[in-house]
Amino acid sequence: MTPAVAAAAAGTSMPALEQTCDGLLARCFSDFEEATLHAAQEFGRDALAQGLGVLDLVELHNRLLARHVSTHAAAGADLVAPLEAAGRVLAQCLMPFEMVHRGLRNAHSALRFSEDRYQEIFENANDAIFTTDLSGRITSMNRAAEELSGYTRNEVLSQKLTSLLAPNAAPGARRRRHLRFGLPEDQGRYVVDIVTRDRRRVPVEVSTRRVYDRGRLVGLQGIARDITDRRNAESALRYINNGLEEKAKRIAHGLHDEAGQLLASVYLRVAEIGTELSPKDRRRLEGLRQLLDQVDEQLRRLSHELRPSVLDELGLVPACQLLAEGVGKRGAVKITVSGTTRGRLAPDVEIALYRVVQEAFNNVVRHAHARNVHVKIERIGRRLRGHVRDDGSGFDTTRIAHRVASRGLGLIGMSERLVAVGGRLEVTSRPGHGTSVDFELSLEG
Ligand SMILES: Nc1ncnc2c1ncn2[C@@H]1O[C@H](COP(=O)(O)OP(=O)(O)OP(=O)(O)O)[C@@H](O)[C@H]1O
Ligand SMILES: [Mg+2]
Repeated sequence: MTPAVAAAAAGTSMPALEQTCDGLLARCFSDFEEATLHAAQEFGRDALAQGLGVLDLVELHNRLLARHVSTHAAAGADLVAPLEAAGRVLAQCLMPFEMVHRGLRNAHSALRFSEDRYQEIFENANDAIFTTDLSGRITSMNRAAEELSGYTRNEVLSQKLTSLLAPNAAPGARRRRHLRFGLPEDQGRYVVDIVTRDRRRVPVEVSTRRVYDRGRLVGLQGIARDITDRRNAESALRYINNGLEEKAKRIAHGLHDEAGQLLASVYLRVAEIGTELSPKDRRRLEGLRQLLDQVDEQLRRLSHELRPSVLDELGLVPACQLLAEGVGKRGAVKITVSGTTRGRLAPDVEIALYRVVQEAFNNVVRHAHARNVHVKIERIGRRLRGHVRDDGSGFDTTRIAHRVASRGLGLIGMSERLVAVGGRLEVTSRPGHGTSVDFELSLEG
């Protein structure tokens, strides 16, 4: 007797099961009919539900059958038909077991299929994928990770992942900890430098997530992408932008100094002429002088906006406030600027953000017919983010994105300015619902 049968026999359920089985076999020897087979399947389901195994059931069936056979053999009965019926009863009893087994087999092969697919995707992904255990040791990596690092799997399996990081991949401690534990705040992306087998330092963008096995944290999975090309493109963009800024500076100085000088001479000549005129003509000349004041004011503003010295002197928010004042007057729109950068930012970041806000203002004046514009700039930890929101006409962003021939450069330029300093830009707009230009960048490395 198997343990399950013995245990069940000792319990309360077995007598009932045994009785049913005995009844089924009795019918094989007397009034066997198709209904007996249905009852046998029912019995198999009950046996399965009560925890009997296939062997338990077969053993029970055989033991009871032996009893019936010996009784009927002694009476000289023909045993061929009853034995055949008993065989069919057993097959029906086992049917529920067979169905469970088939289900398991299907589930197993589905699982194997999905594992194979995962393995295939893992292996053929263009990005480097790796997993680590909780102590940060590498437990697997794909072909792309081998190519990226120059190490074979066998060389790095069980090594600490952090041993691949560049020694002073700033700010090391935090990123290393994140790489080890995949902390929740870490589910965004961040950049670290790794050192390859041939001692090259390669910048990679990594995103990590925690890996659980039946609810238990078992490690980390990371996807890493070589961003050398992106870095090069960013520094090329920075180079171009710096050149543009230099030009803007020269034009601003030209406007301010040379045009300013010329204007000063015009003022002097006007004053000189004034002394020679009658009071009536002097009043007319006064009108001309007021016009010159406006030109002077506009020149000053333009030269400031081209290369705002207030940006160099006081920083981003005051420079945006001054710009807002000028644009507000020219464009008859109310612009408010709020927020703080909590201290000065790197000069290239300040100028990039200033240019983004400036182009957003240009668009508001040229396209939005807005009444109100709000600029917000805020710093949260190491991230700086902000927006320029207007309540103007709005536009269909997808249509603009697909416009090739008459495409403006403003939005593209804004985005490139930000990319060059490691940030990103998002423009949200809908006809009739205003426009929001949102930007964000990380202030580290
Ligand atoms: N704030 C806004 N309100 C309404 N429409 C806008 C706004 N900003 C941009 N647009 C729409 O998006 C288009 C593209 O803007 P973008 O700044 O790229 O080009 P542009 O202003 O037309 O030309 P450029 O900036 O090169 O002088 C604009 O032509 C306009 O239709
Ligand atoms: Mg524009």
